[in-house]
Amino acid sequence: MSSSLEIPDDEKGYDLELFCVPKHYENDLERVFIPHGLIMDRTERLARDIMRDMGEHHIVALCVLKGGYKFFADLLDYIKVLNRNSDKSVPLTVDFIRLKNYSNDESTNSVKVIGGEELSALSGKVCMNIETDIVETGKTMQTLLSILNGYNPKMVKVVSLLVKRTPRSSGYRPDYTGFEIPDKFVVGYALDYNEYFRDLSHICVVSEQGKQKYKV
Ligand code: HPA
Ligand code: MG
Repeated sequence: MSSSLEIPDDEKGYDLELFCVPKHYENDLERVFIPHGLIMDRTERLARDIMRDMGEHHIVALCVLKGGYKFFADLLDYIKVLNRNSDKSVPLTVDFIRLKNYSNDESTNSVKVIGGEELSALSGKVCMNIETDIVETGKTMQTLLSILNGYNPKMVKVVSLLVKRTPRSSGYRPDYTGFEIPDKFVVGYALDYNEYFRDLSHICVVSEQGKQKYKV
């Protein structure tokens, strides 16, 4: 397990006025929590760590939509830079899935995988990276892993941009983590609040007004 950048509980983030945010969200955000540039810098290093560990394996990069799409695209861009600039390179194929979460109460948690028709092609030959946005309780990822292991891949590695420090955690940790964050609800960089804020570059904390405005 590699290390992650730990953001402490008392991290205040940054005043919105110091960064550029879309006008339509100006009053809906409290603070910038992780600036886009820092996300990119950390992602660049994750790409290097992953490529160091993958050896010669063909990588099937699996993106967990929708929240994982920005991280997936940027991480793959950095991996592609490494692939074209080093003596060693590995072929990369991509696949995309969505997860539907059916949880009736705290104890039942069933996950349905939508898409990823090629998953049966994983058998025996490839390793995969599951790129996702956030691991909170860890239960969804544990369920997804058990589904994927049913296809007998050679190796499965999970890469998550964020892991939340929360008492609700099952103790599950991804193989690679960008940032470990306090128990706050964050949006931006494809993470949403009721589908809004995916179109925001920085990871931010939503304001009370934002919560009210986009409440369902
Ligand atoms: N933000 C967006 N989506 C989430 C979060 C979060 O903090 N935690 C779990 N899903
Ligand atoms: Mg969401």
